[in-house]
Amino acid sequence: MIKTDDLSKSFLRGDKKVNAADNINIEIGDGIIAAFIGHSGSGKSSLVNMLGGLIKPDTGSVLIDGTDIYSLSENELCRFRNKNIGIIPQNRCDLGKLTVKENILLPVSFYMDGTVSDTDIFKRADDLMQKAGIYHLRDCKTEILSGGEQRRVSVVRAMIQSPHLLLADEPTNDLDEENSDIVIELLKTAAGDGATVILVTHEKDILPAADEIYRIEYGKCVNEKDALKAS
Ligand SMILES: Nc1ncnc2c1ncn2[C@@H]1O[C@H](COP(=O)(O)OP(=O)(O)OP(=O)(O)O)[C@@H](O)[C@H]1O
Ligand SMILES: [Mg+2]
Repeated sequence: MIKTDDLSKSFLRGDKKVNAADNINIEIGDGIIAAFIGHSGSGKSSLVNMLGGLIKPDTGSVLIDGTDIYSLSENELCRFRNKNIGIIPQNRCDLGKLTVKENILLPVSFYMDGTVSDTDIFKRADDLMQKAGIYHLRDCKTEILSGGEQRRVSVVRAMIQSPHLLLADEPTNDLDEENSDIVIELLKTAAGDGATVILVTHEKDILPAADEIYRIEYGKCVNEKDALKAS
């Protein structure tokens, strides 16, 4: 479950103040896919980064399963993020010289505490790679992969540790319809396993996969259903 209280963040662009998040209050439960839509520059990625513990808000708080993540120390936050949050970033972030499988297993190699056996995690990696249609590429360096293949590596890596919160920033952006469907099925699987899934998208075709839809405009967040009721 994720909850924000009056989350705000502004940036200075030159001498202009940009409100990337303006008093955002949301509460999204376990097993829910919540889509976030809005124009380019409206603040979607900024919100994702704040929810994921990557950008500290100016004011307000982010609670994940009751933990106020910005009250944690830097070390505690890194560990919390590694165990509980999966992020599919808008831009490429894999390490090109590593193979697909090495990239996917990278998050597991931090903070190894013996709670998951190697056999379990290798099986999960194989299973997810198969579902994502990249199993045959597992020993290839990711730098030789197509944009869509790299995107699916990011999806599997974000899901490898069964995170409670999965943040997907335009995960189907550079995919054809078939692969877009594969990614949406993976997000549904994560939600089915109890994760809260935040899905940023410009693509109307995938909105039916969402249980809730929020619109971001100039950093303000409105639940689309509430907006429809008010109009
Ligand atoms: N580090 C930064 N410094 C200055 N301005 C920033 C910074 N990060 C984001 N912004 C500004 O904040 C606003 C929101 O950016 P953000 O990346 O969140 O938009 P977005 O909704 O994800 O857009 P897109 O759909 O194009 O990905 C933009 O006007 C952007 O220029
Ligand atoms: Mg963005």
